[in-house]
Amino acid sequence: MYQSNSVACRCFAWHKWTLQHPPMTAQTSNNPASDQTVSPPAYTPPRPQALSPIVSLVRLIMQGDGDLLSLLPADAYRMPMGHLGYSRRQTLIVNDPQLYKPILLDPTDSYPKNDLMVDALAPLVGNSIFVSSGDEWRRQRRMVDPTFSHMRLGAAFPAMAAGVAAYEAELDALATSGEAFSLDLAMSHLTADIICRTVFSTSFDTRASREVFDAFALFERSVAQVEWKRLIFDAAWTPVPQKPQVQAACQHIRTLLGEMLDTHQQQAIPPNDICTEIVNARDAETGKTFSHDELIDQLGVMFLAGHETSASALTWVFFILTQQPQIVARMRAEIDNVVGDGEVGFEHIRSLTFIRNVFRETIRLYPPITFIPRVALHATKIGRFNVKRGAMIMISPWTIHRNERYWKNANVFDPDRFSVERESELVAGAYLPFGLGPRVCVGAAFATTEATLIMARLIRRFDFTALNAETVRPVARLTTRPKTQVMLKVKARSNVVADRNPPLRTATGETTSRVARN
Ligand code: HEM
Repeated sequence: MYQSNSVACRCFAWHKWTLQHPPMTAQTSNNPASDQTVSPPAYTPPRPQALSPIVSLVRLIMQGDGDLLSLLPADAYRMPMGHLGYSRRQTLIVNDPQLYKPILLDPTDSYPKNDLMVDALAPLVGNSIFVSSGDEWRRQRRMVDPTFSHMRLGAAFPAMAAGVAAYEAELDALATSGEAFSLDLAMSHLTADIICRTVFSTSFDTRASREVFDAFALFERSVAQVEWKRLIFDAAWTPVPQKPQVQAACQHIRTLLGEMLDTHQQQAIPPNDICTEIVNARDAETGKTFSHDELIDQLGVMFLAGHETSASALTWVFFILTQQPQIVARMRAEIDNVVGDGEVGFEHIRSLTFIRNVFRETIRLYPPITFIPRVALHATKIGRFNVKRGAMIMISPWTIHRNERYWKNANVFDPDRFSVERESELVAGAYLPFGLGPRVCVGAAFATTEATLIMARLIRRFDFTALNAETVRPVARLTTRPKTQVMLKVKARSNVVADRNPPLRTATGETTSRVARN
């Protein structure tokens, strides 16, 4: 009784609030592009309609399409903190950096990763770094951190570049045939290939890596970041049974990862790659390495966190670029300036600041991880809210990045908001695509380097056109994705030399071919 009454009350409260506060409208950006005399018109890329709470609830229950974004009422984009008003379990959304920083930086382990997400991911990644908590997580983090140091990133760079070179060959073939292709799928293949090359020193062409990808795609389609129906109806810490096909897909992925690990370990000279680093990682206190099962857990995370998020980010980058020719022109000018005619090297990445700002702005508007969910282990108070034990705390890069309190013209795409000249406009803590605090993404520098490299190389060589731009809409599944596939056509730029780079070497020293993979 209490639950249904409370749901009704909150729905009504939301409804009242929505009536008093009309939906946000995009405003015109007054930011002139730094190297242009006339400002291009402000561009507001696609976003979901913020529906009334009742309509979104009914839609969620009836359609069950896992589209978390359509659940968010307009107010979720404005308030510092509030109830997400439908669930049996208390669910709070926290948008104010002053209120969520203590949660994400909490040294007492009072806000671990929430159980719904842990239950969803555990069949795939066990009790790995992404889902574990407390001392167990600290041990794993200490062991994994050095793998992503700047030096290690430099060592992984040639393998990343080899993946991009192989993909350029595919784009050349598509440009010649004139065939349309799915941007989402292309970016998933490219980033999975880069993960295979940097983690295992093998390309995506092997049977095992292709099978991991396919089983992973099934997992991704079936599993949500947070099971909203469970959140609405279940009490805190109710176990989430996974569907048999999800369990089977996870088991299959783990078996294949085990095979890839075994093949990797059989090599006489261990390759200079991420897998070798993780195999050799030792706990500074006990001197112990990861067990075989723990290694599979960590490699599962690298595959999951390492390609799905980057694929989401790059899908939005390239979609936006099809709509923004003047941004593409500025990116090309920067490449000419910084790199000239040669190959994009690790040493150039830091200086490609405008390209990096395009990436940053894209993941502000389309953060791959839409929600960073935590659970309150104890009853407490946050701001003026009494928080119950077991409450779900949603810290949402999606709503924070689009909140007008922290971002001027929040829905407008404006990469120059990250320029040095405008640094003072940024609100501390209000940008968190990679999370914040001790659990910040270990792969943030890896992902930024990878994206900058891919953007620079592909934009220099190709022109992309979107065939269905007007129907593109974001949804939040495991990551933020277009609801339906974005179809592109590609043309090779006639004034750019197609293959001026010397043959590339992978982390193992193998020379890559430029022949399109099938
Ligand atoms: C654009 C790409 C990426 C984005 C937006 C992203 C975002 C995030 C976010 C938001 C978190 C924190 C989650 C939380 O606090 O609940 C996280 C954690 C993590 N990410 Fe990433 N990530 C990206 C790429 C990568 C890559 C390339 C790797 C590895 C190759 C990676 C590995 C991890 C791991 C292992 C964690 C768990 C860290 C911990 O809990 O200690 N991520 N990521």
